[in-house]
Amino acid sequence: MDPVRPIPDAALDPVLVAALDAALRPGGVRSVFQPIVELDTGRVVAHEALARGPQGPLERPDQLFAAARAAGRLAELDGACRVAAFEGATRHGLAAPLALFVNVEPEVLDTAPLDELLAIADAAPGRLRVVLEITERAIATRPAELLRSVARVRELGWGIALDDVGADPMSLAFMPLLRPDVVKLDLRLVQERPGPAIAQIMNAVNAYAQTTGAVVLAEGIEDDRHLAMAHALGATLGQGWLFGRPSDAPATDRPAGALPGPVDDDAAGPAPSPFSCMPEGTALRRAPKSLLIELSKQLEREAMRLGETCVVAATFQEARHFTPSTTQRYRDLVERTGFVCALGEGLPVEPLPGLRGADLAPTDPVRGEWDVVVLAPHFSVALLARDLGTVGSDLERQFEYSLTYDRDVAVRAARSLMDRVAPGVARAVTAAVTRQEAAAPTVDTAVAELLGDNLLVRRALDATPSGVCLVDVRLPDQPMVYVNTAFERLAGLPREELLGRNCRFLQGPDTDIAAVARIRDAIAAGEECREILLNVRGTERTPWFNELHLAPVTDESGTVVQYIGVQVDVTQRVEAERALQRERDRGLSYLAQIEELAVTDPLTGLPTRAHLQQQVETALWNARATGDAVGLLVLAVQGHAQLECEYGPAAAEALLRRTAERLCGRLRRGDLVARWTRDSFAVMLPGLAPGRAGEEVERLLDELSAAVSGPVVVEGMPIVLGVAMGAASFPADADDVAGLLAVADRAAGRTPAR
Ligand code: FNR
Repeated sequence: MDPVRPIPDAALDPVLVAALDAALRPGGVRSVFQPIVELDTGRVVAHEALARGPQGPLERPDQLFAAARAAGRLAELDGACRVAAFEGATRHGLAAPLALFVNVEPEVLDTAPLDELLAIADAAPGRLRVVLEITERAIATRPAELLRSVARVRELGWGIALDDVGADPMSLAFMPLLRPDVVKLDLRLVQERPGPAIAQIMNAVNAYAQTTGAVVLAEGIEDDRHLAMAHALGATLGQGWLFGRPSDAPATDRPAGALPGPVDDDAAGPAPSPFSCMPEGTALRRAPKSLLIELSKQLEREAMRLGETCVVAATFQEARHFTPSTTQRYRDLVERTGFVCALGEGLPVEPLPGLRGADLAPTDPVRGEWDVVVLAPHFSVALLARDLGTVGSDLERQFEYSLTYDRDVAVRAARSLMDRVAPGVARAVTAAVTRQEAAAPTVDTAVAELLGDNLLVRRALDATPSGVCLVDVRLPDQPMVYVNTAFERLAGLPREELLGRNCRFLQGPDTDIAAVARIRDAIAAGEECREILLNVRGTERTPWFNELHLAPVTDESGTVVQYIGVQVDVTQRVEAERALQRERDRGLSYLAQIEELAVTDPLTGLPTRAHLQQQVETALWNARATGDAVGLLVLAVQGHAQLECEYGPAAAEALLRRTAERLCGRLRRGDLVARWTRDSFAVMLPGLAPGRAGEEVERLLDELSAAVSGPVVVEGMPIVLGVAMGAASFPADADDVAGLLAVADRAAGRTPAR
């Protein structure tokens, strides 16, 4: 399969041509409706109308639109979809305050016949409140037309939603210029693990929403985790399967609410020139050209610092002022910022690759101006100057000017320049194809750069069992531009859903963030790296261990332009290693058991002699500090050896176990009984009152003697054994462990045990 040509060629395929004809007949396309809800209340405030083709090969919207585009019938289809949406909405009784969100294809935005729709909307009982969704694809290609269309839509009283925000930084850069009423966050923002790109998007969106009152809508909410993330990102509206799938009729199972009102915008259309955007009475200064050059360069540096969320619009009077050094600086700006345009008499529509331009008409007032506008989510500045036409050397040429940080002025000035920008060609590499209603990916030049037309290489890559993907690090958020078949298998998704996305979506909540940080740092430094990461597969998000090897790919100048990633599923190996580790841990627990044995007598479960000695030692230390007394008893079972001879070792052991149980049952809290020798036990009695220790010890000795001397049933026969007992106490009889034991042993009539 050739990954770079996913668009069906309707012009050549008669089946698709017939299906497209059928779709474009009246009633051929229909709309389904998906609810948009308030996250806090669950009330439905709007429905998005999504197009469906007639049953057959073009039922899916991405295939339908791809076929229409290929057949040159996109405008026709786009219009048909909107009519279907409006008619469907009125038929189902959708009326204000509920709103209808409809999409418009960027290519046909400025020619879309909206009047017909207005008539349908106005004729609807209760009127339809309409919000037109536009994507950043429209911004990139036709900014002037886009701004004009937005003004036209606003004049109709309709709202504007900026769709897929986050799929491409371009949409962030244009947000202040478009002033959308609703910012629709791309679904990966709620579905993927947050990374720096998401932080950048949220920074820009929150800045915009806070200053304008626009609402933020999170798309792709499918479960409670996504919902929590949507709240966390600052969204107040949501859309996704959790609230309802697209269906033939708008859902009526939720209470209805209303979309907040539109943001303020001056719909008067663009100003005649940036200089005219200055409010009346603005104090103007005079400066020679030499100062304006430096001021302009300073603003360019600011723009470089602001990066991809920034728009730069500049005028050069005449093409000759666009000097080689200016060319170099603007090449850098194109590389680093979101959108750059340069206008001047005689400047071509694309003065440099990626730099947007326009020739200025002889009567255009902008010809006499020197303007530089830099606009970003948190920063705006405009240098607006007018040539005073004084004579002298070129560098001494005089201008009157204002350098303003007033955001409204900067926005108006940028719009005024943008209104002149000629339509451009669509950018080569697709931005993220992440919508539920996925658009078809466009031609992938980045792959061609590396693999060329070498079919053999492509086939070899497709045959390898390891996943291989290629990421273009020059593109925003480092998207995948090539994946082989094994990668599709590992990720559990088809390549259409992979191309254009950053690989981070493979990570789950349990992915090691330290490993991810190491990868991030390696890529930032242009270095190779290897990591084993926990990833998830497919829509079920099944975990698997990915042994990842990333290597940079450089161009002729040595600049890193791409990264190649090789992925191997090492789940079995990691799990085997983990099992081994668990065994080792268990091995450690055997050691622990051995240690335990050292303190526990295996026959009776009582502490051993060594353990008791340690405990008595500790008790004596404490007693010395508190002034308490400590008692020690020794109880020797008499006739044990004879019992063993007559009845066997099992009977002798049973007797000892019963005796131990009886002793334990008579002790106070804090007392400790231990197996002392083969046939004797020792008991420690700490914390005795010093004056009454002897008495207390005697009392306990009697009690224990009574407890253990009763008959014990061994092998069905009651056996009565004698017990010899002796006692000693600290400090009365001895002041150390050995001394106490010797006294007690002797009292029991035994040779002191050693
Ligand atoms: C990646 N990344 C990646 N991550 C992952 O979890 N599984 C994968 O298979 C890959 N594959 C991959 C291939 C290539 C070529 C590159 C350049 C990167 C890493 C991921 O895209 C991203 O760089 C890291 O998550 C760190 O960046 P963030 O998320 O902190 O922005």
